[in-house]
Amino acid sequence: MNDEQTFEIHIIENGPTHIKGKFSFKDSAGNLSAEHNELFFCRCGRSKNKPFCDGSHKNQWQTPE
Ligand code: FES
Repeated sequence: MNDEQTFEIHIIENGPTHIKGKFSFKDSAGNLSAEHNELFFCRCGRSKNKPFCDGSHKNQWQTPE
């Protein structure tokens, strides 16, 4: 991340992590992404397009007891 990158992270209740701003990220293999303005990262583990949310969490979110 360089000095010009700023972003905001919002944890959506029963949904993904929403990141908005100007940012890039590294994947699990260490590859740096292109610069993004907005992304939704899956927190439920059901997405078929990980690490991104594909909406599969809807009506299926399970809160640990
Ligand atoms: S949080 Fe949306 S598919 Fe996992």
